[in-house]
Amino acid sequence: MIEYADVVCGLAWGDEAKGKITSQLASSGEYDYVCRWAGGNNAGHTVYVDGQKYKTHLIPSGIFYGIKSVIGPGCVVNVKSFFEEIEYLNKHGFNTSLVKISPRAHVVTEEHILRDKNNQYEKLGTTAKGIGPCYSDKSKRTGIRVQDFDDFKSYIWDEKLEGKVLCEGAQGFWLDLDYGNYPFVTSSTTLPYAACSLGFAPQKIRRVYGAAKIYDTRSGLDPEFPETLLDDPELTKIGMLGQEYGVTTGRRRKVNWLNLDKLIEAINISGTTDIVISKIDVLSEAGVFKFFYMNELYDFNSIVEMKRKLFMIIKSECQMIDKIYFSESPHKI
Ligand code: IMP
Ligand code: MG
Repeated sequence: MIEYADVVCGLAWGDEAKGKITSQLASSGEYDYVCRWAGGNNAGHTVYVDGQKYKTHLIPSGIFYGIKSVIGPGCVVNVKSFFEEIEYLNKHGFNTSLVKISPRAHVVTEEHILRDKNNQYEKLGTTAKGIGPCYSDKSKRTGIRVQDFDDFKSYIWDEKLEGKVLCEGAQGFWLDLDYGNYPFVTSSTTLPYAACSLGFAPQKIRRVYGAAKIYDTRSGLDPEFPETLLDDPELTKIGMLGQEYGVTTGRRRKVNWLNLDKLIEAINISGTTDIVISKIDVLSEAGVFKFFYMNELYDFNSIVEMKRKLFMIIKSECQMIDKIYFSESPHKI
């Protein structure tokens, strides 16, 4: 029986330091499973274990803490990159026999990657990992699944979940196929309700941990994030101090002031109960404190003043919010 499921999700456009939250929760020893419910190796999760930095793209972060780590039926799996990740984890001494893949997850083929590179990479600024074409074959019902491959035999998940489950989101709220700025979105459901595809009822969701940053960033194309943002001196400084480069693509991310209207919407629709707003140190170092709210840009004198205002607005506009945390850059913890 499943006792409860906690979900970690991104409240922006990915890169909100979800890995840090997942790590902290997973290291508590509370959970029996850590699971991914969507996406593939378009994601890039950075995790710090005992001061050491590790990167994964597909395998859930539970693996760093000796917890069963499940790649769910809603995920897409690149065979080569999966086995490279297994090798990387083995090399660093992690127990990869705990990695499990749903037999129903779909497989990303070389042909998907080619289609992505040729048709979508430039037009949409995708990660060129074959994600969109793989999900479109899944929807067309012409895809191939993990169960059709012999390679995965020792990793096949028996589709049982028990006890306490932690679900690790990929990408973010505004990259969701339905909610994002279509077609500048990813091809999966990034919202917490989709975690139920792992095999539990919505009522089992206990807490939703929403990850956000104190400023917005966007990797990939999006008319809401014009390229001219890259020329703004204050935003450029924030991007440099915050090391805003893609884990998966190495691309420089576009930086903008936090859009609080969008954040509030994401909190309320995702059902976030605990929000972690990170990278406070970056704004402090940059010495500029601004956010958009009700379509106006507000300017504050200090990080303390900005945090106080953020806290008050989120508390008053988000009924489901229970806890609001502010934190620093992942490498500072
Ligand atoms: P795709 O998921 O590769 O098809 O890319 C679609 C859009 O989602 C592009 O704008 C990507 O930059 C963005 N995207 C996908 N995965 C991530 C991620 O993990 N972090 C940030 N952006 C992402
Ligand atoms: Mg990421």
